[in-house]
Amino acid sequence: MEMDRYRTIMRFLLIVGVLFHGCESDVKCRNDNGDEVDWYILYKLPPMNDDGLSYAYMDESTNGWVFSREKINSKSGTLANTLKPLLDFYDRKTEGFGFMLYNDQPANSKYAAPSSFGHSKGVVMLDRQTGVWLSHSTPKFPTYGSRDFWPNSGNVNAQTFICVTYSYDEFKKIGLQLMYIHAYSYDSDIPTTFHNDLRCVAQRSCYPKKEPWFHVTTLTSMEGRNFSTFAKYKRFGDDLYSGLIVNYLEQDLYVKSWGKMRRPLPSNCSTSIPHSVYNVTEVKVPGRKPFSDTVDHSKWCVTSGGGWACIADMNREESQMDRGGGAICTNDVAVGKAFDAMISKYKQCKRERPNSDAQHREL
Ligand SMILES: *[C@@H]1O[C@H](CO)[C@@H](O)[C@H](O)[C@H]1NC(C)=O
Ligand SMILES: *[C@@H]1O[C@H](CO)[C@@H](O)[C@H](O)[C@H]1NC(C)=O
Ligand SMILES: *[C@@H]1O[C@H](CO)[C@@H](O)[C@H](O)[C@H]1NC(C)=O
Repeated sequence: MEMDRYRTIMRFLLIVGVLFHGCESDVKCRNDNGDEVDWYILYKLPPMNDDGLSYAYMDESTNGWVFSREKINSKSGTLANTLKPLLDFYDRKTEGFGFMLYNDQPANSKYAAPSSFGHSKGVVMLDRQTGVWLSHSTPKFPTYGSRDFWPNSGNVNAQTFICVTYSYDEFKKIGLQLMYIHAYSYDSDIPTTFHNDLRCVAQRSCYPKKEPWFHVTTLTSMEGRNFSTFAKYKRFGDDLYSGLIVNYLEQDLYVKSWGKMRRPLPSNCSTSIPHSVYNVTEVKVPGRKPFSDTVDHSKWCVTSGGGWACIADMNREESQMDRGGGAICTNDVAVGKAFDAMISKYKQCKRERPNSDAQHREL
């Protein structure tokens, strides 16, 4: 009798223990304090009389940009805190954890990925409960197998990062977006029981096989916020912004991309697209001097007035029409406002033939 009761109690404690342990997940986007956040966006600034390691930060609580006191490569900054489950995994292969690092300019390599792969960079980490998708513009980030995750080559230019925390289930859809992008995975370990859509991307063994050569889908974060994600495969054969995003967001689009491309696409006011697409050539983060797109490797766009803002991974360039890539967009008011306000200079163009909208505005 006593023994039975003892067994029952032990069994109960074991179940409670498993449940509690199972409910707590470490794989979340985290801020400078190490606290969980639903999402954040980082803008690492170019060197401005400093080492080029400072960054502006925003999340759902900041109402626009705030400057971090940390450096981007700090062991206690936002990136380090977010990457912690991965860095820990290097030391002790955590059970039930999966990750994938992808980059067209892989870490620890002199070589770029073949151009048949997407012009995209990011980190996917997850366990059975939650995970993060961190999409960014930094070549060779993160260095792998090492706690020194930041490549010094990333110091000289500005870069953007967007991190969103999702439930485990959303990673099936994220796997699909990464398949369209045809992401170049350079390091991964995804448990065999996790989504096959993610595993095959991590193994570089899947790509889209039929039209349409793009995929647009809404991802819902842990806290229930929607992010519209755009992905195009190389066979799409058009610019991400003027050929895809502008058709969905239904506003003029201001695009910030890398200013040192061989064959840049000009601002586009053609009536063959529903709204104009303008190149942003100079950016001003509040409280800092403006900087040019030749020291700003970030890729982002914002609709006129700031209704939508997207963190992307493609440049407006001819050869990138035939590359995979994508964007993660939000209609969060504070984010849109912050990005709209950063446009310091852009290349104007004239609409070939005024559309009815433009005529309205002239009245
Ligand atoms: C998010 O998107 C889903 C469908 O994709 C929709 O059902 C839901 O209402 C949206 N939620 C918000 C807060 O906009
Ligand atoms: C404008 O963009 C569309 C879609 O990408 C493209 O087909 C067209 O050639 C572009 N026009 C100009 C003048 O760049
Ligand atoms: C943007 O367009 C202008 C002309 O409209 C061009 O001079 C510039 O090189 C383009 N920049 C990018 C980054 O595409």
